[in-house]
Amino acid sequence: YVIGIDLGTSAVKVLLVNQKGEVCQAVSKSYPLIQAKSGFSEQVPEEWVKMTVQALAELVSARKVNPEDIEGISFSGQMHGLVLLNQQYQVLRPAILWNDTRTTWQCREIEEKLGERLVQITKNTALEGFTLPKLLWVKEHEPDVFTDTAVFMLPKDYLRFRMTGTVNSEYSDAAGTLLLDVARKQWSEEICERLEIPLTICPPLVESSHCVGTLLPEICRQTGLKETTKVFAGGADNACGAIGAGILSDGKTLCSIGTSGVILSYEEKERDYQGKVHFFNHGKEDAFYAMGVTLSAGYSLSWFKETFAKEESFDEFLHGVAQIPAGSRGLLFTPYLFGERSPHADSTIRGSFIGVDSSHQRSDFVRAVIEGITFSLHESIEWFRQERKTVDTIVSIGGGAKNPVWLQIQADIFNAKIVKLENEQGPGMGAAMLAAYGCGWFESLEECAAQWIRPSMEFAPRREQVEIYRDLFPIYQ
Ligand code: XUL
Repeated sequence: YVIGIDLGTSAVKVLLVNQKGEVCQAVSKSYPLIQAKSGFSEQVPEEWVKMTVQALAELVSARKVNPEDIEGISFSGQMHGLVLLNQQYQVLRPAILWNDTRTTWQCREIEEKLGERLVQITKNTALEGFTLPKLLWVKEHEPDVFTDTAVFMLPKDYLRFRMTGTVNSEYSDAAGTLLLDVARKQWSEEICERLEIPLTICPPLVESSHCVGTLLPEICRQTGLKETTKVFAGGADNACGAIGAGILSDGKTLCSIGTSGVILSYEEKERDYQGKVHFFNHGKEDAFYAMGVTLSAGYSLSWFKETFAKEESFDEFLHGVAQIPAGSRGLLFTPYLFGERSPHADSTIRGSFIGVDSSHQRSDFVRAVIEGITFSLHESIEWFRQERKTVDTIVSIGGGAKNPVWLQIQADIFNAKIVKLENEQGPGMGAAMLAAYGCGWFESLEECAAQWIRPSMEFAPRREQVEIYRDLFPIYQ
């Protein structure tokens, strides 16, 4: 057996997976988001550790498996979050998360000081969500904290440190910091020097499938796990989501709709998208992926439900959407509830309903929200197509893949075949695959994917709807 741990934004999910790739047990534990001011988004790292330990203890106490038979554990995690530690490895302040947008000024500073070198080195532009602007914000607003910092970590790297005592990061998450030379796979001395960030606070880098050690006795005592279980570095949640969906060779594309939504395309080699989409190292050795991000994807739909239909179940809420024609009878929604990354890179734009008519019912609004989120993701697909990438088949995962009506809307807006997976488990499965590969169960991640991942349903684009959406898209834009 192996365990995949996905440290998400709202919850941690742990999966127990056997050698056939079957999920024998899944436990999830949630923790709060602290939003003290508009644009601020933080979490207490101790909560991640506490909830993961609880989840693992629950998983072990269910006695589905003898803990001695758990060979490996690996991690997936929310990207970009900044955890700061002092010399004694104590956490200096709450973690600043990927969806925190306080750092617009620091992004401008990075662009001014680095100019075109930023995209040349990191393959990305400066966006509020990334880690480096957060470091600069702390340096400016909390100088004592910055001075006390001995090392910074990303969320799942901190969790793994607490479970093993070893300090590491790995390339897929390091790529989201804006401090990594993505092609050379090393921290950029040039960026650190120009922005006066001590290189020494960057943690040592390893591959995602690298074994970093074993569990600390204290963690074994709290969870019932054994000190013989090997711990592997793991990857960023989007890299792990891609691994778990088999996005491991050229031509494969992923649509993942959770709180945020991404369109992710595998890249065998380093490539220059001029920072229009994100470009990060994959969890597969020496590979990359390009990715467009809609910040408020699934979040837009849950926001609408929480605000206007709090008492209803999700099924009741979505009932009736299938009967509304493509285009929601003239109602359009833009999902920029907390700004947007791709393609606008603007933390200040906000959402809108356009074309509201006295005949519109609630179902029109719900469908318009779903279509607006999908249009926003389509902007990234169209960018990939402009760059001469073929996007004709897309694996869809996450909350957005749960509802067949939404999957069909994806097929019709993206004008591509949508594949839904059997028993899809998201990034936690990618983490489990990294552990399985690290344990030597497979020669490669591709071999693991071939054995573990199976499609369950396909949705083909329907011509009439494709044309309706094609006409609407420029209006949406
Ligand atoms: C990616 C990003 C989000 C988080 C969500 O750049 O910020 O998808 O990784 O966990």
